[in-house]
Amino acid sequence: MSGLDASRLEGASQSRRHVGRRVIVLAETESTNDVAHDAAKNPDEIGLAVFAERQSAGRGRMGRSWSAPPGSSLLFSILIEPPPALADAPFLIAWSASSLASVLRDQFSLAARVKWPNDILIDGRKVCGIMVERRIGTVIGIGLNVNVPADAFPDELHLPATSLLIETGRTVDRSELAAALLDRLDADYAQALEQGRGATLARWGEVAEDWRGQPVSAKTLHGDEVGILLYLDPDRGALLATDGGATLAIPPQELLRIEPTTRRVVGK
Ligand code: BTN
Repeated sequence: MSGLDASRLEGASQSRRHVGRRVIVLAETESTNDVAHDAAKNPDEIGLAVFAERQSAGRGRMGRSWSAPPGSSLLFSILIEPPPALADAPFLIAWSASSLASVLRDQFSLAARVKWPNDILIDGRKVCGIMVERRIGTVIGIGLNVNVPADAFPDELHLPATSLLIETGRTVDRSELAAALLDRLDADYAQALEQGRGATLARWGEVAEDWRGQPVSAKTLHGDEVGILLYLDPDRGALLATDGGATLAIPPQELLRIEPTTRRVVGK
């Protein structure tokens, strides 16, 4: 498996304005998120992208770990400092997930879809996970399964997993893909800075799973809910029609997971 080519990743960095203005590639680290957080002490590092071929303590959301065979995938973190109007986690995940999914759709003709809040799925299988962490700056951590064969995934995963190798049947040039992802993240972020949230949210709507009108189960900060989904988006969160004809609004920050269910909802 060929290694990530730092010079190819850095090549276009000067044309990037916000994301990937500087790129570093590490052979190994505990977590690229921690490297990016450390860099945030220096304001000049805003825009840094940190890649690692191997993480010894990669982490995911909800206290989970994140692992990938060394040299197989794209494990990276980007350090940004969004203005208050773009700084909420639902928006940042909508921006990054829709940019990443768009590249997978455009470059590989894959039906990549965003599953609330932070997963990119292909035919129900997770190919990419995203997390937002805030310390001094804001760090977006991204794990994209690239050249991972099916037998390399652990048995116990919270969602079935897939990779670009499995979906396309060919080995993907990770350096080229990484550069394309940074370019797209940068361009879409620039658009949000210039024009506000609207275009990003519209793009998210085009690539997100759409379960409106279907029974869904929602895991929230306050417990589990079931209802017919009336809407779901990163600005408003979800609105469910629940038993007895009532509606329940779940703010985006409180909505941890949502998916179709076979449980019957009465009263609608
Ligand atoms: C999730 O789906 O739970 C999010 C997974 C995020 C994993 C990436 S890999 C690069 C970066 N460094 C980490 O420790 N985690 C993120």
